[in-house]
Amino acid sequence: MSEKIIIFDTTLRDGEQSPGASLTVMEKVEIARQLEKLNCDVIEAGFPVSSPAQFEAVKRISGEVGIVVAALARAKEIDIKSAWDSIKEGEKKRIHTFSSTSDYHIIGKFGHERYGKTLEEKRKTVIQMSYDMVQYAKSLCDDVEFSAEDAGRTDLVYLSEVVEAAIEAGATTINIPDTTGYTMPKEFGYKIAELKKRVKNIDKAIISVHCHNDLGLAVANSISGIENGARQVECTINGLGERAGNASLEEIVMALNVRKDLFNFHTDVRTKEIYNTSRMVSGFSGIIVQPNKAIVGENAFAHESGIHQDGMLKNRETYEIMTPESVGVNKTKIVLGRHSGRHGLKSRLYELGYNLSEEELNKAYESFIKLADKKKEVFDDDIRIMMGDEIFKDSSHYILDYMQVNSGTNALPTAAVRIIKNGTELSDSATGDGPVDALFNAIDRALGMESLIESYRVRSVTSGRQALGEVSVRIRAEGKSFTGRGVSTDIIEASAKAYLSSINQREMYNAEKKNSFINQDELTEAV
Ligand code: KIV
Ligand code: ZN
Repeated sequence: MSEKIIIFDTTLRDGEQSPGASLTVMEKVEIARQLEKLNCDVIEAGFPVSSPAQFEAVKRISGEVGIVVAALARAKEIDIKSAWDSIKEGEKKRIHTFSSTSDYHIIGKFGHERYGKTLEEKRKTVIQMSYDMVQYAKSLCDDVEFSAEDAGRTDLVYLSEVVEAAIEAGATTINIPDTTGYTMPKEFGYKIAELKKRVKNIDKAIISVHCHNDLGLAVANSISGIENGARQVECTINGLGERAGNASLEEIVMALNVRKDLFNFHTDVRTKEIYNTSRMVSGFSGIIVQPNKAIVGENAFAHESGIHQDGMLKNRETYEIMTPESVGVNKTKIVLGRHSGRHGLKSRLYELGYNLSEEELNKAYESFIKLADKKKEVFDDDIRIMMGDEIFKDSSHYILDYMQVNSGTNALPTAAVRIIKNGTELSDSATGDGPVDALFNAIDRALGMESLIESYRVRSVTSGRQALGEVSVRIRAEGKSFTGRGVSTDIIEASAKAYLSSINQREMYNAEKKNSFINQDELTEAV
């Protein structure tokens, strides 16, 4: 009998920390439902203390899905209380608390004398704080996970002491993160094996691994961790995450699946839902999947060279170690057209992983009709992009209602726009150096604010002459960058949507800062 590996998906927490990724509460709920369909075991839904929007997303997800929902908390009472409040009404819940354990982190974050004068004293303080906070979390919730942040660079003897204390205080899952993506597979596996040997109460907890991809080794390290005793793996769809990202869920799951001959492990993931999940996350987060990405990239199953094609025609196994169908990639592409009814759209959306309410379906159908008027054939990817573009956007955001742009040879480019926010119309017009410049000037005038544009990019995201064009705009404000995305068959309209979307990101950031439960500077403070 093969042993089960618990899949802990952190797309909605660590994944959302990806630069440029930002999901609305409704988008997070939709992704959570799809992760349930994928049959993950645990979803880490967010970091509730960090903002009201994070709190609300975790609370809604926890009420929505039937699998374990984890909420992240630093080893601080205020965080743990907030994590608990966000999940307590859910069916299955977990508090996930963490302390920093490497000397780099201890010196960097616990520099103040109140944590101890020497490194030795500070290390003791961290053990005591971890113990107390796991105990507090346990008084609220049966299922408590403890992470030793930067365990990859933490001294093994000290790490063993921290882990033992956390288990004694009640943690039932011990997570060993390679926070900086520093370790090598052999070294990381050795750490897990040694913890199993050295920590005397280790049999009371499940060991988990959580690897970052700074050296491109997150998946290799995770698998090495599993081979050496870890039974939970933390990962994200498309490998999304801070900096170079986290270990990719689809790569770990398929590695265990394809190499059953080598590993005596299995997961309960429904692999046929992998592709839909990947596309949904990419559509909502705006982070594109590189074409050569393993398992879910556009080229993952493409065979270009003649020798490969010939080999494939004779016997697929010549060059294929898994079938596209096994991960949900289907070759049939044309789906709907303007005469397809609501019912046809609804069932296609369901097949693509979207479970919409009546109101959401109405919105989706309206967008679909507009799209089908412009495009004769609507492909799966058009639908996915349409869903990622506007269906789950909030009416409290700036939404483009109308635009008209005139430009031509020897003509002065002019643009007029009407934008709606919370039911209020904001209109204006302007000229510019070109059509896009005129459009952005008109938007600035209508909103009464200017934004510094850092970058502007256009690309085609679906195929054919009537392909959807995607524009991405990055603006700079408040010392931060905000990236917005817009999609349309008309790239000028896509530009307006992308610019407004970057402004909406900026507004969301400012609102979160204003309404935060705690001072944002405190979030980066020691735990
Ligand atoms: O990378 C990391 O250390 C983390 C912890 C909070 C688990 O994300
Ligand atoms: Zn992480």
